[in-house]
Amino acid sequence: MIRSIKGIKDILPSHSPKWQTLESRAHELARRFGFMEIRIPIFEQTELFSRSIGGATDIVEKEMYTFPDRDGTSLTLRPEGTAGVVRAFLEHSLANQFASRKLYYIGPMFRHERPQAGRFRQFQQFGVEAFGTEDPLMDVEIITLLWQYFSLLGLQDLTLHINSIGTLNDRHEYLGHLRDFLLPHLDKLCGNCRRRIDTNPLRILDCKVPHCRSLTDKAPALIDHLSPPSASHFREVLQNLALLKIPYTIDHRLVRGLDYYSMTTFEVTSPALGAQNTIGAGGRYDGLVEMLGGPPTPAVGFAIGLDRVSLVLPENAISPPSPLVFVAGFGEAGQEAGVKLLQEIRNAGITADTDYRASTLKNLLRSADRLSASITIILGDTETKKGTAILRDMVTKKQEEIPISKVIQTLTYWINPPSPSQQNS
Ligand code: HAM
Repeated sequence: MIRSIKGIKDILPSHSPKWQTLESRAHELARRFGFMEIRIPIFEQTELFSRSIGGATDIVEKEMYTFPDRDGTSLTLRPEGTAGVVRAFLEHSLANQFASRKLYYIGPMFRHERPQAGRFRQFQQFGVEAFGTEDPLMDVEIITLLWQYFSLLGLQDLTLHINSIGTLNDRHEYLGHLRDFLLPHLDKLCGNCRRRIDTNPLRILDCKVPHCRSLTDKAPALIDHLSPPSASHFREVLQNLALLKIPYTIDHRLVRGLDYYSMTTFEVTSPALGAQNTIGAGGRYDGLVEMLGGPPTPAVGFAIGLDRVSLVLPENAISPPSPLVFVAGFGEAGQEAGVKLLQEIRNAGITADTDYRASTLKNLLRSADRLSASITIILGDTETKKGTAILRDMVTKKQEEIPISKVIQTLTYWINPPSPSQQNS
């Protein structure tokens, strides 16, 4: 038997209500904040990702699914959404086409990581990107949207980690201090960090190896080396988060694993997850649009890992399925009337089903139970002859025989009974 690929999973029908909830809430909230949906391709030219994310990052060095097209062009399955959104933003001159310049996307991303709980090779992200303003209030809006999404879903005990990695110049200045601090301890760092001292020294701060961590505990902090404008930007972000009552923790180690970031960076973690506990992350990337050939355009965004959110989603956040009406038509005339009625009920916008394999009332009722139907319509030859149908409430077992012409009206009433105030008026 052919099986699915390691680290790549099916979302089975029992889990789809959860995913439908995650996705519908994302659409709802992003639109409420004035973001418009963009659907970008699953694969792009490799260069887009290597240039945007950075050649010395884990993603580009070892996690991308890259393959040659038939003409030899190198293509890559998107490991994240920001690069593709920026490419589309430039290619279609979206900056001139609509005023808000705020985009969102939901879709699968691909990274060849070592699979473990909460880490997959195909995973789903909900991401947002806002272009064209360097105002710290836009950072705050993005973080607010991220925070509200989790609140809306009822996620508890989350921590918002925040940092500023400043501008390229700020980092250049800071890296001198960091290297001076690290060089005397070079032989005590792990192999990865020793390599990073030349390729990507900032990442040494977020190494998970315990002795690297304790060594960098006393490393100089980037926020103490920010230029006055960067420091004031960060201060304003924090002040406005406080104003909106969004709690945060400043985290000096938060440098992010993608090279395009500048200024504000943030991550949200959940204590209910193991090692892979970051459920969403993002930040500013003021230089990326220009780096990909566009005009200087500040930007800020985030991406949420929906697979991880699905692991901590409380049961009561999942939207219940709409009640199901089961049509049990049996006997020659009853079955025919049932086929017609099933179509009418569905046309009226009510969820309805039947079981074509069952031909006796007993088997039909068993199928109705198996499908957890709320109401069953019993329609035998006797009822058909009289022009009636029997409505059976599958919970209370209460039954009512009514004219077939009144079925839709009665079903609507049973499914959505008017509230007492509506009845009195
Ligand atoms: P990222 O931190 O690489 O950022 O990914 C964002 C989120 O995607 C993570 O916090 C995590 O929840 C989820 N994620 C990442 N890798 C995996 C995986 N292998 N399995 C399951 N979930 C995963 C970005 O992708 C940036 N594009 C975010 C951004 C948007 N920054 C600015 N705009």
